[in-house]
Amino acid sequence: MPSMFLVLEGIDGSGKSTQAKLLAEYIQKELKKQVLVVREPGGTELGEKLRSILLDSSEDLAPETEMFLFMAARSHLARTRILPALNQGQVVLSDRFIWSSAVYQGIVAGNDPREILDIGRIAAPGLRITKTFLLDIDPGAGFSRVKAPNRMEAKGLDFQARVRSGFLELARRPDSKIVVIDGQGSIAEVHERIVKSLPARGWSTCSSL
Ligand code: ADP
Ligand code: TYD
Repeated sequence: MPSMFLVLEGIDGSGKSTQAKLLAEYIQKELKKQVLVVREPGGTELGEKLRSILLDSSEDLAPETEMFLFMAARSHLARTRILPALNQGQVVLSDRFIWSSAVYQGIVAGNDPREILDIGRIAAPGLRITKTFLLDIDPGAGFSRVKAPNRMEAKGLDFQARVRSGFLELARRPDSKIVVIDGQGSIAEVHERIVKSLPARGWSTCSSL
């Protein structure tokens, strides 16, 4: 069975890291596959340094500047951890990936998301996402779940609403292979919805970034 590269996306507080953990446990237990869970930005020494620059910096960064920093972290993570794990037959689960850049630094910032996807192909050549789960929740619900907002999360409800509609816009692209999952309800209910949308058998085809 070819390896699977799965991505969880959604607004802040939508439950991505909670569901990544549960999905990894499910795949290990039920599908008997080794799973590597990573988060973006981060997952490498360089990535964690870039993460603190991006999330904690008091400096005002242009969306384009941010995009290159996120992309640098992604490129290093893809080359040093994701691709090697996929080549060993592991399932890789990423808490955010290129779609976050396409939405936050693309659609929401007034930039063309296609250009960002093109840069993503340069950043991580040969890497293909098998399936993306978009955890869709009302920004108010997401906000009430986030306890200590970082620089990105502190941008307010209107901003989160624009991020949400950006993700939904990308999900409507037939080639995106983004599955919209209702992120409302209990943690167990959301997990069940994700598991139900896993294909019954191994995935032989991969969508492009
Ligand atoms: P994200 O990674 O998308 O920012 P988290 O998984 O960190 O979201 O969840 C944010 C907070 O909301 C955490 O405290 C988590 O325990 C809680 N949470 C996650 N999913 C749910 C849910 N379905 N219902 C209620 N609280 C949730
Ligand atoms: P994080 O705390 O990991 O997100 P979450 O609250 O969803 O768990 O913070 C990551 C922040 O960085 C989040 O606000 C989204 C933003 N981001 C981008 O703007 N572009 C990107 O390419 C990525 C990966 C994240």
